Amino acid sequence: MEETESKAPEKLSQSRRKFMKIGAGAAVGFATLVLGIPFLDSMISQSLRLRTAKFVKVGPVIFLPPGIPDKMFFDERDKDAYMEETARRDVWVVSEDPDMKVFSPICPHLGCRYNWNPRDQHFECPCHGSVFAKDGKVLHGPAPRPLDTLPHKVQGGILSVKWERFKLGISKKQVI
Ligand code: FES
Repeated sequence: MEETESKAPEKLSQSRRKFMKIGAGAAVGFATLVLGIPFLDSMISQSLRLRTAKFVKVGPVIFLPPGIPDKMFFDERDKDAYMEETARRDVWVVSEDPDMKVFSPICPHLGCRYNWNPRDQHFECPCHGSVFAKDGKVLHGPAPRPLDTLPHKVQGGILSVKWERFKLGISKKQVI
């Protein structure tokens, strides 16, 4: 009888500890859920946004100097799960009747921004010295592939571009 009475508080303490453990586990699970949902939501909407990139108006092509690369700027509205922001973009446009090429301004080697050298008539990357012809071909490495072209269209004299990014440092052009 005495033994049973002394075990009662111990049992009570055990069940209290068990209850506390379950409560703590539930709290951690709830916190993970609360913090994890916005993160997952943001990740999913970001990947969807990249896959559903749209054509954005850049500007009139009538002012483009024929055969001379010209840098054009445009703003793209970027909508995340919670925020909407405007991103400033730029592209290199080479208009050679009847063709037009629109290049991403990002060097396919490691992502620096290259420039047009009017004296030597080629594009140069200041980071590691890659040189590209006006049509985007590699004249001098280490760039592993030509300049990346972007999807574009001209309607009513207005150039529109679909902004995309590509994997760097590989020989194949691959959208990310
Ligand atoms: S980033 Fe352009 S050459 Fe390396």
